Parts: sequence; C-alpha cells; structure tokens
Amino acid sequence: MTQRINPSILSADFANLQQELERISTADLVHVDVMDNHFVPNLTMGLPIVTRLQQVSPIPLDVHLMIEDAERWAPAYAEMGAYSVTFHAEASSDPVALARKLRDIGARASMAIKPNTPVEQYLDVLSEFDQILVMTVEPGFGGQSFMETMMPKLRLLDEARKKHGLDVWLQVDGGVTTDTIVVAAEAGADTFVAGSSVFNGVPADRIAELREAASIH
Ligand code: DX5
Ligand code: ZN
Repeated sequence: MTQRINPSILSADFANLQQELERISTADLVHVDVMDNHFVPNLTMGLPIVTRLQQVSPIPLDVHLMIEDAERWAPAYAEMGAYSVTFHAEASSDPVALARKLRDIGARASMAIKPNTPVEQYLDVLSEFDQILVMTVEPGFGGQSFMETMMPKLRLLDEARKKHGLDVWLQVDGGVTTDTIVVAAEAGADTFVAGSSVFNGVPADRIAELREAASIH
C-alpha cells in the first residue's frame, strides 16, 4: 500500500518558509494549516500567502482549512492550484456538494472530522471524497498528544473503502511520531501529517524515519 508523509509547516520557521519547503523536499506533500481564529482559536495564514507557497514549493500542497464558511473559501484554494483541499465537515453546509465543486475545479476533495464528530454518517458517501482526514488532536495547535481513541474511526473508514473498492486516502493529523504512526497505520491510515516531529529535528532524517516506521506496521 502506498503511504504518504506530509510535513506540516505549522512547525516551520514562518520567517523563512521558502527555505523550510526546501528542507522537506523528500516528503510527498506539504501540509499547510489555514486557521481563521473562529473555527479554531488560532490564526495562521490565508489565501495570499498560500498562493505564494504554491508558486515556490517543490512538492504539491495539501491544504487543511480550519476555517468557518468552507463553501466561501475552499474553491479559491483549488483554483490557485492546491493539489488537495481539506475542509472541515463541521464548517460546511453541504460537504458532498462542496467536494464535487473541488473535484470539478481539479483538486483532490478532502473532508476532515474533529475528534468529537462521528464518522458513521459519511460512510455511505465515501466515493464523493478523495481523502478523509481523521483529526487525532483538537485542531488549532501543533505539539499536542495523539488521541489513540480515534483509531476506531479509521477502522470503520478502512472497512468501508475496502467493501466498496474505493481508493480514498485516509489521513491522520496531530501528534504523529515514529511511535504513533505505527498505531495509525495499523488502523488503516495511509497519509500522515507530522509537524513538530519533523521540524524538531533534521527534517529529511525525520521524514525517512517516519516512512520506515509506517511501512513496517
Ligand atoms: C493542528 C494542525 C496540524 C499540526 C500538527 O490543528 O492541523 O496539522 O500542524 O502538528 P503536530 O504534528 O505537532 O501535532
Ligand atoms: Zn493540519
């Protein structure tokens, strides 16, 4: 099974983002956390900065929108060329319609669910998405601890995609380390976001270690 390591630049040096992107060029995608101080209690960057990152990044962008009113903003990230656009189910009035719009524009359509959001209601519409992001921390900040209690959601998603023969990617975000990545991979995750665990060391080394740990589960 193909597995992907997506470093989150939330833990990078915001004064030197272009150099930080070069340091993670061995990753599969670069995870970009957009926060609006409403959906989550933190503020990061918006469309102008992410558009510029898209222009200079050696690897494709995996944009994670932690913002209210997903319908208003998500299509713009697809239009400027993001490879994948993740919006939150809790911030969308019609997730399936929004996913269809993102696909029409040409991006991978991805939906995230917060720890308190059940997944059962989405199992029947999995084919509408290219990726489901199961949050393994409360969104908003890097450096939090991985919530192993989210693993049953991944197992349900993994069973459903196998049953229906779908190749929807299952992403985890929050507290991913060389230890917890094994737990997430065993539960069915194939796409791993890691912020602090990548940027707290030499990113290329950390990416290789995460890759190795995920593949031997
Ligand atoms: C948190 C963000 C994550 C964050 C993960 O709300 O969505 O992408 O950067 O950071 P770590 O890997 O440090 O938990
Ligand atoms: Zn994220």
